[in-house]
Amino acid sequence: MSAVRVRPARPAEAPILAEMANDLNDHVGVRGRPFTPERVLTGGFGPQAAFTPLVAELDGAVVGYAFYAVGYNTDHAARAMWLHDIFVTPAARGRGVGNALMAAVAAETLRAGCVSLEWGVHKANTGALAFYRRLGAGGGEAMILGVDGERLRALATGARENLPSEA
Ligand SMILES: CC(C)(COP(=O)(O)OP(=O)(O)OC[C@H]1O[C@@H](n2cnc3c(N)ncnc32)[C@H](O)[C@@H]1OP(=O)(O)O)[C@@H](O)C(=O)NCCC(=O)NCCS
Repeated sequence: MSAVRVRPARPAEAPILAEMANDLNDHVGVRGRPFTPERVLTGGFGPQAAFTPLVAELDGAVVGYAFYAVGYNTDHAARAMWLHDIFVTPAARGRGVGNALMAAVAAETLRAGCVSLEWGVHKANTGALAFYRRLGAGGGEAMILGVDGERLRALATGARENLPSEA
């Protein structure tokens, strides 16, 4: 029987984390493969870290990861955990690694005193949706929207009338 182990990632694993994070972006249609080992080190390690990285090992080999960070749930007026990413390499899927990663993040959510664990998912990502439903996840009515690049600067400077509408 295969042994799954989830543990905090090490800085030396920044290259494999960057590769898997870019593969997840590819999987959901985000272009550009923006992760580099340096970005993982800056984002996930040290006193200014924006997220905490976990890795999952299957029989001693790293086959998955999760990134999470403490946020806030205004419905409950309490701290909430935000799951940024979860990914298992294709060959290792269907063997309980995703479940083990989610269980580890949920345990950390409780340890950190958070009232909920939340995440976003692309509507077209039907495999992930099925996985999340198996975990008992609810919701799905809310959408996550955002601005970046030129639109973010326009919003900040009041120049957004000059931008073409996205829809
Ligand atoms: C989603 C993902 C993390 C699941 O990881 P995994 O290791 O394959 O999941 P597990 O083997 O632990 O499966 C857990 C449960 O979900 C179910 N499940 C997992 N993937 C599924 C799929 N594509 N369709 C239907 N059910 C699925 C399993 O049958 C299992 O059910 P059970 O607990 O009742 O036996 C993995 O498929 C993945 O990395 N996908 C690509 C990246 C991605 O979409 N990430 C989410 C971004 S929002």
